[in-house]
Amino acid sequence: MEIRAIGCEPLSLKRVYIENGHTLKVYRETGGYKSLEKAIGMSQDAIIQEVKDSALRGRGGAGFPTGMKWSFVPRDSPKPKYIVCNADESEPGSFKDRYLLEFDPHSLIEGMVIAGFALGAATGYIYYRGEYNYLIHVMDEALREAREAGLLGDNILGSGFSMDIHTHTGAGAYICGEETALLSSLEGFRGHPRMKPPFPAVEGLYASPTIVNNVETLTSVPQIIEMGGIAWRDLGTEKSGGTKLWSISGHVKKPGVYELPMGYADMEKFIMEDCGGMLRSDKKLKAVIPGGSSVYIMNAGQILGQGVTLDYEGLVEAGSMLGTGGMMVMDETVDIMETTKNLSEFYKHESCGWCTPCREGTDWIVKIFDRIAAGGGKPSDAQLLLDICDNIEGKSFCPLGDAAAWPVQSAIKQFPDDFKKWIAGKTNGNGTQPNN
Ligand SMILES: Cc1cc2nc3c(=O)[nH]c(=O)nc-3n(C[C@H](O)[C@H](O)[C@H](O)COP(=O)(O)O)c2cc1C
Ligand code: SF4
Repeated sequence: MEIRAIGCEPLSLKRVYIENGHTLKVYRETGGYKSLEKAIGMSQDAIIQEVKDSALRGRGGAGFPTGMKWSFVPRDSPKPKYIVCNADESEPGSFKDRYLLEFDPHSLIEGMVIAGFALGAATGYIYYRGEYNYLIHVMDEALREAREAGLLGDNILGSGFSMDIHTHTGAGAYICGEETALLSSLEGFRGHPRMKPPFPAVEGLYASPTIVNNVETLTSVPQIIEMGGIAWRDLGTEKSGGTKLWSISGHVKKPGVYELPMGYADMEKFIMEDCGGMLRSDKKLKAVIPGGSSVYIMNAGQILGQGVTLDYEGLVEAGSMLGTGGMMVMDETVDIMETTKNLSEFYKHESCGWCTPCREGTDWIVKIFDRIAAGGGKPSDAQLLLDICDNIEGKSFCPLGDAAAWPVQSAIKQFPDDFKKWIAGKTNGNGTQPNN
């Protein structure tokens, strides 16, 4: 695994490189909690303005501007306010937050306390996916250290502001990463998404104003306060500020977690040079899913020689999305029908079953893929799959429905031959292709 910053100084990865970077001692020796000291000398509005100026966009997948989200919190509300960190990280292909949680827990605590101070929240929660239970002790120990040092708890750094943070684990459901399902789960209910509006910023945890932000989003906040919003933004582009963590896996020689400035040029260089190129040098690039599984799959022609910049705008222009930055690279040996079938099984399994288009649609998609894989594909199947996707996309209760439709739609569009091959019946009838 490579852990590396390219084209910028390591900011998010700064302490991931350093031995014992997870301890309060090393965190403070490397400038930690200086931003909190600075923030408590600022007004709440000034902190929110710095975050707005930074053009920080939420790193959990949707890319919503963080400063704008913070400004939606009604600070004069008599209800308690909450800061909730989304550490559910269940998106296939995404594993960047894990490194921050394990190797740099204090930057998350610092980011959450600054957010709490700016928004008047006295309580924070960090919601871990069930499978990350094994590393929750790192955060609990960091929280203990912070409390003992007066950086958390009553009267933080003598400012009169008090806040505490608690850890909580889910039970391994992907849907609990969706922010409203997460809040239901945190309240002790089944993790079903809730109707929006009202948005959590106005009515979230216990029907009180709540900010839900991703781990990487919140760990960026101390960097922004330290450097100033504009300076941080200028590390990236005007609309996609700062640096971004990418988790890259699949058929590259050097998979890992990379920090790149937003707008990095370009995607081909990143895959073919920075990540060492194709794992098997004699194989060609076939496909990339650039932002975790819930985005459009790209073919090599959309990437090679196209100058795709790695930022929100660049990836949309190239026909996909940045998502969480969980980039999965596939060489020419990969059968995209099988890949899509595999992803569809994931979405079917993870559909919470609340709404009909997603519950029934994901089930039908898998049934059709199973039939195709068993050698019973029909020429009309590609269109049938697209029709089902059309009945899920934009018609489901939460974005998981769209996420289930997009890989199928884009795979059929970008790799029609992989589907035709199966549908023409060139299989041995048990789901494998003898000549592949
Ligand atoms: C099915 C589904 C799963 C999600 N999983 C995560 C996740 O694991 N981590 C995360 O930060 N956001 C996840 N999100 C996005 C959250 O709903 C929300 O947009 C995010 O936590 C907001 O934080 P941000 O603005 O800092 O990105 C998921 C969304 C959906 C629809
Ligand atoms: S879209 Fe899927 S995951 Fe979302 S509410 Fe409907 S059934 Fe549940």
